[in-house]
Amino acid sequence: MQARPSGPAPWDRPSGRSERRTRVSSTTLSIIGTGRVGSGLARRAVDAGLDVVVSNSRGPETLARLVAELGPRARAATPAEAAGASDLVLASVPLAAHTQLPRAELVGKTVIDPMNYAPTPDWQAQELDSNELTSSQLVQRHLTGAQVVKALHNIGPTQLLNLFRPSGAADRTALPLSGDDPDAKKEVADLLDLLGFDTVDLGPLAESWRSEPNTPLYALPYLGQPPADLTALQDVVAWAQQAPGTPVLRAQVKELADAAVRGPAGFRMQ
Ligand SMILES: NC(=O)c1ccc[n+]([C@@H]2O[C@H](COP(=O)([O-])OP(=O)(O)OC[C@H]3O[C@@H](n4cnc5c(N)ncnc54)[C@H](OP(=O)(O)O)[C@@H]3O)[C@@H](O)[C@H]2O)c1
Repeated sequence: MQARPSGPAPWDRPSGRSERRTRVSSTTLSIIGTGRVGSGLARRAVDAGLDVVVSNSRGPETLARLVAELGPRARAATPAEAAGASDLVLASVPLAAHTQLPRAELVGKTVIDPMNYAPTPDWQAQELDSNELTSSQLVQRHLTGAQVVKALHNIGPTQLLNLFRPSGAADRTALPLSGDDPDAKKEVADLLDLLGFDTVDLGPLAESWRSEPNTPLYALPYLGQPPADLTALQDVVAWAQQAPGTPVLRAQVKELADAAVRGPAGFRMQ
């Protein structure tokens, strides 16, 4: 097991969180990148009573159908307009596109980073391949002046839309989050609480590898057991995209994060 820096793990420290908990500071969630993850989160957010501003690379007019489906709480905008519309912004674009996120408009914002590194012949990042940085540190480096919080990267949109539960439910799923700014992490924890999830603080962005691809906390626990007769990778992926999911409690998240061993970065389909 990889040695942890001195001192207890963040999840073992008394946080006093229950006394500090407040409501989400913004009633609007802005979303840059409205594909599978962004549209799934938009649905959950609207159902939970938030307004959403959705954006993509092709322009607001291409999001008309989604906005109609989401109803009056949703509107479409450009990424820059979306960034300016809320203090809470989900950046659900491919990691390779993180340098196109609107840096100036995101200054001072809490940016939720669900992006996973998946090296391709077209895009690889040497600092990730060498484990010098985590992918969220790379994103934070681009987004100078924003507070990046890694979250929502290790659960699929289908599971997210099935596993939400009210606060205090015995089978409430917990999600890991990491970040360098305590206030931003609290804001994201409050958002996830509103959306129906507990959270476990894994520490700073440098420690976010503990929940990235190739660790025990990444995706699989939330999916449950695939049918035994699925062997081909594309069949497993197809199953994972529609599996309802299985609850993962806070204690299990802590246990899996602590058991993580840092290996090669990046999700590889092979
Ligand atoms: N799929 C999953 O199960 C899953 C789970 C957890 C985390 N993630 C991570 O979440 C991120 C999104 O995944 P996804 O599956 O939702 O991807 P996706 O379905 O391919 O959607 C990507 C979205 O990003 C938009 N986009 C791309 N470049 C952009 C730019 N420069 N500016 C604004 N928007 C841009 C795309 O816009 P257009 O539609 O206009 O091209 C699209 O709306 C990825 O980093 C992925 O690693 C995925």
